[in-house]
Amino acid sequence: EKGGHEYFMLKEIEEQPDALANTLRGHFADGRVLLDEQRISEQDLRDVDKVFVVACGSAYHSGLVAKYAIEHWCRLPVEVELASEFRYRDPVLDRDTLVVAVSQSGETADTLEAIRHARAQKARVLAVCNTNGAQIPRESDAVLYTHAGPEIGVASTKAFLAQIAANYLVGLALAQARGTKYPDEVAREFEELEAIPDAVRRVLSTVAQMRALARQLADAKAVLFLGRHVGYPVALEGALKLKELAYMHAEGFAAGELKHGPIALIEEGLPVVVVMPSPKGRAVLHAKLLSNISEIQARGARTIVLAEEGDETVRPFADDLIELPTVSTLLQPLVATVPLQVFSAEIARSRGYDVDKPRNLAKSVTVE
Ligand code: BG6
Repeated sequence: EKGGHEYFMLKEIEEQPDALANTLRGHFADGRVLLDEQRISEQDLRDVDKVFVVACGSAYHSGLVAKYAIEHWCRLPVEVELASEFRYRDPVLDRDTLVVAVSQSGETADTLEAIRHARAQKARVLAVCNTNGAQIPRESDAVLYTHAGPEIGVASTKAFLAQIAANYLVGLALAQARGTKYPDEVAREFEELEAIPDAVRRVLSTVAQMRALARQLADAKAVLFLGRHVGYPVALEGALKLKELAYMHAEGFAAGELKHGPIALIEEGLPVVVVMPSPKGRAVLHAKLLSNISEIQARGARTIVLAEEGDETVRPFADDLIELPTVSTLLQPLVATVPLQVFSAEIARSRGYDVDKPRNLAKSVTVE
């Protein structure tokens, strides 16, 4: 049942192209993005004036990624909140607030309590969930299912990528309802999403390099991850995976914050993973990250750089260069996350840990 793999997680990493394709399937017809069980009307979507994404763990990171897309496409303020914090603040919500609750299991207690609180304030709740009929979708006004299939590995992989895709569908549906994107632009964004499963397949064909690197670094004391814009949540997710699976000290930072503190951590030989944006997409960001990498390299870090294929500018600064297929800026997290999953799983395996069942963690946490 592990399809010849030693661990479910490795199988689930390979299933990501299908998870994405299945999540997108059926959501675009007659020139329009369609959501699933839509008990939130088109008019309600038009009236939305603020979006909250509430979630935990990797699902929270999928929300951080979506913030960039939804703000850009819909011109709506988006706040991404850890469900456990949201519930106990006093978030400002009303009937024009859309709360997107992202949960693979649909049973996470913190997220469930967050949506109960949101609904009590009259906000509309849309669940993005991987589990049919789970409690969170049952208590939501609408549901968009991620069709990643059952995920056995405790650390989320295919469900995480599917969550990003589903959150993007929510963003496109909002843009369409609000008219902040023309129909042909929405269609183009959807087409780009549809091309992602193939791009992920290409990443999967190159993971041997990441595995070899992981084996070399299996004894590292700590690993830092840097990214900017959508690369920042990718860095956070890369660090979370390494903590979860390899029990290693790992931190994700916004690269721009480096000079405000984290650079003090850089020492000889410290592995630092950097998620580079495309040189074509956001040239300014690319230039800023290049200068970050040169700073950390000058201080002796071992730089592991994830960059778009053909990006030669990065080569002199990369002790190890991992090439990613070219995709649009907002979609890069869907390809850049994959090598980081493989990296953590392989380090955990080298250290002799159970990749599917990391210590102290549970697949779904039904206590607050
Ligand atoms: C954690 C899992 O406990 O819960 C993570 O170990 C997951 O992998 C998080 O991202 C949130 O779970 P869910 O089911 O709400 O997406």
